[in-house]
Amino acid sequence: MKDFIAIADYSAKELQEFLDLAVSLKTEWKNGGNKPIFKDKVLAMVFQKPSLRTRVSFDMAMRHLGGDALYLSPAEIGLGKRESIADVARVLSGYVDIIMARVFDHAHVEELAKWASIPIINGLSDYNHPCQGMADALTIYEEYGDMKGLNITFVGDGNNVAVSLLHICAKLGANFTVATPKGYEMPVAGLEQGKKFAAESGSSVNVLNDPHEAVKNADVIYTDTWTSMGQEEETKKRQAVFPPYQVNAALVAEAKENVIVMHCLPAHRGEEITDEVADGPHSRLFPQAHNRLHAQKAILVKLIQ
Ligand code: CP
Ligand code: NVA
Repeated sequence: MKDFIAIADYSAKELQEFLDLAVSLKTEWKNGGNKPIFKDKVLAMVFQKPSLRTRVSFDMAMRHLGGDALYLSPAEIGLGKRESIADVARVLSGYVDIIMARVFDHAHVEELAKWASIPIINGLSDYNHPCQGMADALTIYEEYGDMKGLNITFVGDGNNVAVSLLHICAKLGANFTVATPKGYEMPVAGLEQGKKFAAESGSSVNVLNDPHEAVKNADVIYTDTWTSMGQEEETKKRQAVFPPYQVNAALVAEAKENVIVMHCLPAHRGEEITDEVADGPHSRLFPQAHNRLHAQKAILVKLIQ
């Protein structure tokens, strides 16, 4: 496959290959550094939204592998505004070797992939966040050795991060439970796809509104912001609805004793997660953020020929 647009586009076997490669690239890096296999290769990073992790981890992944990366801000590209997406895709295809794009409308990253002759990586859209999903799976895999049979619970907004997490869990055989407030459920199409993948792998998908029921028996509790990028005008409304979904010490105590807590970051401490949990013994927030680097190296290596 040429692009990395969605976890759903890959088989369980291919996803496991990404994970195995991420593990070996991480080990290689720890043992003195990665081989410079990307000499003269350049990644263009097109951003329509802000970023810390995605921007820096992709840039550093390219450097560790001997390549380079270009940051293109929303002001510079104006994807679909200053210039059509089809034209941007074809122009960049003549300059660089691979493109990572962070967009609002998911159709825009698909449009880039349609027109580019080089690989496109989805660095987050309003619909999903597959690079995050890969790093999350790597983090869970490192903790437990296998995804199969684990109980993974997402608490909060049924957003882009939840979609990719559901899909990688369902593909790799982990049971996925989601608890959202009414009206903030996951998108139906993404959920139905997840149920299909779970049926194929023999795992389950459980959709709830009660966070307490959702975390019972959880091996992983995952949360994310209540207000994603692009939804800022809804912040106040959401702050009134979501407090029962806060991941705090009391909620964590209702899960398995050794549960780990994950968050894609940026965190809104005191809202979806407390300091006590984010900085406590169950937290894997920073190893998870670090793993973006290695999971994305695996994606880059698989896509750049
Ligand atoms: N988790 C994540 O994608 O972070 P950034 O928005 O900072 O890239
Ligand atoms: N759901 C969040 C994730 C940020 C990495 C957002 O889209 O803003």
